[in-house]
Amino acid sequence: MCGIVGYIGPNSATPRLIAGLRKLEYRGYDSSGIALVAPVNGNNEILLRREVGKIDALQRELDTHPLTADATVGIGHTRWATHGVPSVRNAHPHLSRNGRIAVVHNGIIDNYQELRAQLTARGFEFRSETDTEVLAHLIELNSADTLVDSVRAALRHVQGTFGIAVVSADFPDEMIVARRGSPIVIGSNGTETLVASDVAPIVPYTTSVTFLDDGDIAILTPGRFEIRSLSNASVSREPTSVDWDPGAAEKGGFEHFMLKEIFEQPEALENCLRGRLIEADGAAKLSGLRLEPRDIASLSNLVITACGTSYYAGLHGSYAFEQLAGIPARIEQAAEFRYRNPIVSPDTGVIAISQSGETADTLAAVREAARKGALVCSICNVVGSTIAREAGRGIYLHAGPEIGVASTKAFLCQVAVLNMMALLFGRTRRLSNAEGICIVRAMQQLPNLVRSVLAQNDRICAIAEKIAGCTDAFYIGRGYMYPAALEGALKLKEISYLHAEGYHAAELKHGPIALLDEHVPVIACAPSIPGHDKTMGNIQECRARKAPVIVIASEGDESVSAFTEDVIRIPACHEIVAAIPVVVAEQLLAYHVARLRGEPIDQPRNLAKSVTVE
Ligand code: AGP
Repeated sequence: MCGIVGYIGPNSATPRLIAGLRKLEYRGYDSSGIALVAPVNGNNEILLRREVGKIDALQRELDTHPLTADATVGIGHTRWATHGVPSVRNAHPHLSRNGRIAVVHNGIIDNYQELRAQLTARGFEFRSETDTEVLAHLIELNSADTLVDSVRAALRHVQGTFGIAVVSADFPDEMIVARRGSPIVIGSNGTETLVASDVAPIVPYTTSVTFLDDGDIAILTPGRFEIRSLSNASVSREPTSVDWDPGAAEKGGFEHFMLKEIFEQPEALENCLRGRLIEADGAAKLSGLRLEPRDIASLSNLVITACGTSYYAGLHGSYAFEQLAGIPARIEQAAEFRYRNPIVSPDTGVIAISQSGETADTLAAVREAARKGALVCSICNVVGSTIAREAGRGIYLHAGPEIGVASTKAFLCQVAVLNMMALLFGRTRRLSNAEGICIVRAMQQLPNLVRSVLAQNDRICAIAEKIAGCTDAFYIGRGYMYPAALEGALKLKEISYLHAEGYHAAELKHGPIALLDEHVPVIACAPSIPGHDKTMGNIQECRARKAPVIVIASEGDESVSAFTEDVIRIPACHEIVAAIPVVVAEQLLAYHVARLRGEPIDQPRNLAKSVTVE
């Protein structure tokens, strides 16, 4: 949530900051801005440009009111509003009272009201409604001989979370960055140094990046940086080599990142599965877990925790663990887990799932589980992300960068990883070699299962035309199709703004069926796996209320033709993998509905890719 970027080097900062912000726009896009340290009439000053809306709007403002190309130090921000409406005055960077210090911030200052009252009493006037502005004033109030000492002194007063970058007209040759709870990545190629909220703006300059830990503060100069702790101890952080083609974060000819990412899924799954399935043993190898068979055997139960789409993948995982490994497994929404005081013990395995690896509630759940002595592991996509690092053990998805706010390829790979984990646990506990081989073979089919759904893109588009004008829709399914139904409804609502609900197929008649009529389509997830016959009965009930029905069914299942001509087919497959092609059909359906309604698919209103506030 919110993206921050900073550049210090020999070249003009503005185009580099804008290019970086474009790569971070997925983190928030209600307003943006940059601040430069620039020579003006022989003195250094801070120059500021901010605009409401996306980075294009800021670029237009810069085209109309250009900033000097001579400035080679600057910071930028793209915002997802927490405190104060999206407006120019609330957009970052924020300036200190004397206008000589500029700050960008990602996170939330919990005690900002108290700090604001104290600063107001000392004569500071606030120009915004944000929590961040207190930081700029606090740094000015705590002015010391060096900028890093001023920032450090200011941060002593701050409760809450932050990733910040600070520049000062009085210290034109450096930039200070610090982290507590919000990601900060630094990279330097020997002449230029960059900071950002994730690696994307940095990889065009260097693939060696350094992640700050909580409590770190760093001094950036052109071509180098030094990390210390907020208590001024020397700190050493190992750089990480990023195996990431910068072109992977471009649209590559697709109209939207979401569509590109949907079509990348066969390859994403291949990368996710590569080297992890051992057919002869009917097993999976997941070395990042660092678990010996006896460790797995000693676990008595599993708790999976996550938010949003990752939560639905976790629900699927809870079924897979119980089916394949016979180990009690439950899913818990991460915000509930962190505050509900759940029962976990040393023989509880806690699995935190997060595409971004930065979701605040999931991170807090990881910390709570670790505090209670559980064995914690993560399933993340972003390498080096906070959850991945704090969990200590885990599995990366290898799905590649996911830019569209609506999660697609990450979900598929989360389900694939959970299936592999369930297989690994199953083979350690109760699954036979023959049963394991059957699961491995089912998993190996995954890329082709997805390809067969992608090949129906035009047909799915035609079906989308029939429901694009609706205001409500229901998704139903049972067994492994229940999480698939929930995920389908989430995809539709988040990008098309069409009201959609996912229900267990059996639950519909306990209330929501009252809403069905000829204007409310029902999307039924009904491939030929256990539960199919029962779901057919539920589809009958929907048709009896005149609801139009779209069925996602297996090839060769002619029973569905009695209800509708709108059928999307998936190849015959094992129930453990069926959710994957079904969800691909739902993704394409949601995508086309949103496109037909003219919505901004990659950056839906009110959402952000990485939810770093609770
Ligand atoms: C997915 O389409 C959503 N944008 C959202 O639900 C997301 O899955 C959720 O915020 C969790 O994110 P994470 O996987 O990065 O933790």
